[in-house]
Amino acid sequence: MKRVTKAVFPAAGMGTRFLPATKANPKEMLPIVDKPLIQYAAEEAIAAGITDLIFIIGRSKRAIADHFDKAYELEIELEAKGKFEALQELRDMLPSSVNCIYIRQAEALGLGHAVLCAKPAVNDEPFAVILADDLIDAQPGVVRQMCDQFDYYQCSLVGVQPVDPKDTGSYGIVASEPLSERLNRITRIVEKPKPEDAPSNLGVVGRYVLTPRIFDHLRRIERGAGGELQLTDAIQSLLKEQQVLAYEYTGTRYDCGSKAGYLKATVEYAMKHPEVAEEFSRYITERFCARPA
Ligand code: UTP
Repeated sequence: MKRVTKAVFPAAGMGTRFLPATKANPKEMLPIVDKPLIQYAAEEAIAAGITDLIFIIGRSKRAIADHFDKAYELEIELEAKGKFEALQELRDMLPSSVNCIYIRQAEALGLGHAVLCAKPAVNDEPFAVILADDLIDAQPGVVRQMCDQFDYYQCSLVGVQPVDPKDTGSYGIVASEPLSERLNRITRIVEKPKPEDAPSNLGVVGRYVLTPRIFDHLRRIERGAGGELQLTDAIQSLLKEQQVLAYEYTGTRYDCGSKAGYLKATVEYAMKHPEVAEEFSRYITERFCARPA
């Protein structure tokens, strides 16, 4: 039986929806309260037992590697100033059993191409793909939920959620047959179909567990929607030889690649952050909920 111990974090996109914030900084480094999106994603993977974190980075994405590196000067400063809590938090960011691997995607040719760039580090193992800009508040995390399903079914899975039928053009959409309560067997998957062409309203979100066979299909696909090499098209091709399941996760997703989704996540996470929740909730109530006299 195979287990998932590797996760790929594609983080080399252009982030055009978030310009100019993403001009010199990757969108995966945008903070939700006090942690960048990429750290939430890494923590979700680690909580699922993943030990190899493979980051696909692009131009001006050095900040991601810097974020996970040891920061000697900062640690010495914090120690000298007696800021032991902050120091401990930095030191606990990654367990010592976890390896970080960074691979450059020289050109943003699409998510499918970004995943293909991970092949030398993944080899012949099943692996998770986590899009950090899809922040999902879930307990247990969605990667854990999907790895549990993988342990049983030993096949590829994509995370899905029902989406508003008018929004199908923003998602990969699956046609499927029911298998069990939260699982469907995918019969077809299409990238960003118009509402009238969509086979259902089950949209793919940024969580996948894939068998290494996907790499053969990624190598063969042609440019698809938006002129990019689409992971969705490789999954459609994989379907011809292997079963792929759609897993309807439990949890709340925030599309932090969009401004509105990012702001919603910030408010929700602030409302339960131990340090700022009280003050922030009071502010929101007084500012927006107080009834005029
Ligand atoms: P998006 O579709 O969100 O594209 O990519 P984007 O470029 O990041 O953002 P917009 O749409 O221009 O605002 C989905 C995921 O795939 C990664 C992105 O970093 C994001 O995590 N990606 C996309 C790559 O790593 N490489 C690519 O060539 C394209």
